[in-house]
This record gives sequence, C-alpha cells and structure tokens, in this order.
Amino acid sequence: MLLTNSSVGRKILMACTGLILISFIIVHLLGNSSIFAGPDGINAYAEHLHALGPLVWIFRLVMLAVFALHIVMGVQLTLENRAARPGSYVQKQNLRTTIGARTMIWSGLVLLIFLIYHLLHFTVQVSNPEISAHNLPLDAMNRLDVFSMVVLSFQKLFIALVYVAAMVFLFLHVSHGFGSFFQTMGWNNDRTIDGIGMASKAFGFVVLLGYIAIPVLIIVGFVKI
Ligand code: HEM
Repeated sequence: MLLTNSSVGRKILMACTGLILISFIIVHLLGNSSIFAGPDGINAYAEHLHALGPLVWIFRLVMLAVFALHIVMGVQLTLENRAARPGSYVQKQNLRTTIGARTMIWSGLVLLIFLIYHLLHFTVQVSNPEISAHNLPLDAMNRLDVFSMVVLSFQKLFIALVYVAAMVFLFLHVSHGFGSFFQTMGWNNDRTIDGIGMASKAFGFVVLLGYIAIPVLIIVGFVKI
C-alpha cells in the first residue's frame, strides 16, 4: 500500500483513522447519554442499534480495520521517532510537547486494554454475567435491559473507578490527538498553534466530563434503578 510506504503517508493514515475514532467517541458519548433519559432512553437506543442487523457487523468490521491501522501506524511512527537523530528536523518539531504528546503510545496502550475489557463487559457481557442484560429480566417494553446492566455495573465502585481512570487516559490521548490531526494536515502554523492546542484540550475535557458523568452520577445515586 502506497500510503504506508512513507513516514508522511503513515502520519496521514494515523490522522485520518484518528479522526474516524474521534467521531466514534463523540457519537458513542451522545448515544450513552440516553441513559439520563432512563430505561426508555438507552434501552430503546440499544434496540434500534441491534435492529440494524448486518449493518452493525459491517460497521464493526470497518471500525476494527480503522482501529488496527491506527495502532500499527502509531507503534511504527513511535519506533521511527525514537530511532531518529535527536537533532533532526522531525525530532525538533516534536520537542514542543506536553504530557499528552509524550505519552501517546502509553495512553493508547491503556485504551486498548480498556477497550478489550469494555467489550467483554458491555458487548460480549461475560465479565459480570450476573448483571448482563442477557441474564436480567427484559424491561417493561420487552427490550434487553441495558439501563439496569449499566447502572448495576457502575454501582460497583471498582468498575466505576476503572472507567473513570480509563477516561483520564482517553483525555490525555484525544486532547493531544485532536491537535496532531491539524499538525499532520499542515493546518497548524505559528498563528493557529496556540488556539488549536487550547481547542484540543477543551475537546478532551468535554469528552472526559461527558464520559465520567455516567459512572459518577450512578455512584452518587443520581441515576438509579
Ligand atoms: C462511561 C463510559 C462508557 C459507557 C457507559 C459505555 C457504554 C457502552 C455500552 C452499553 C455498550 C454496548 C452497546 C450495545 O451493544 O448495546 C458499549 C459498546 C462499545 N463501546 Fe462503550 N461505553 C463507554 C465508554 C467507551 C469508550 C471511551 C470507548 C472508546 C474508546 C467505547 C467504545 C465502545 C465500543 C467500540 C463498543 C462496541 C460497539 C459495538 O457493539 O459494535 N466505549 N459501550
């Protein structure tokens, strides 16, 4: 494949797959927020999603390919950057860094581990079978009770803490990744660099607050069965 043959091509692939993943993170957050509308919100949302049948599987396969490409390019670029001469032009560009920038590979790895756990938890539903939607009674409208599964999960302090911690890594990752996209596309310059840096952090913060709101509001009893 041509794009993977050059370091610039790999960066572009990294940026584009990152943008797709960020779009997923926004859509998933909006979908998850339906939990605040109670069982009629999130259970209806989950039912609509599952009713898409084969489309769901096409979507999953595309996302898996995007995710795999993002990881492979990320590991490759990190190894290349480490091998680069310290005084080289590329390296200098990266010297203007933040914690988020320097830890991208590690926050990415933590997110990969989180995602595997998350899929086992809420999609395959094997990590806590006693509160899986497949084992809980159906809701009043005969739908899988995703609402109860999520609430009963986050009422367990340990699970809630795992999610909150993972979201901090998500913040670190996307708050740098968002700005990197503009950098790679060449849309970042001396005039825009500070604004893009701030917008990137603000975006990461909104994602952080949005996602942790779910376990936190369940733990404090604001959202309950
Ligand atoms: C508080 C945080 C989160 C909650 C409450 C949550 C909730 C859920 C639920 C309930 C499902 C199962 C949907 C269903 O099949 O009915 C799900 C699936 C999924 N979540 Fe999350 N999620 C959270 C954070 C995240 C994050 C941060 C990511 C990505 C980094 C993510 C990625 C996914 C993916 C890839 C799936 C599988 C979608 C599919 O089945 O095709 N989630 N999530």
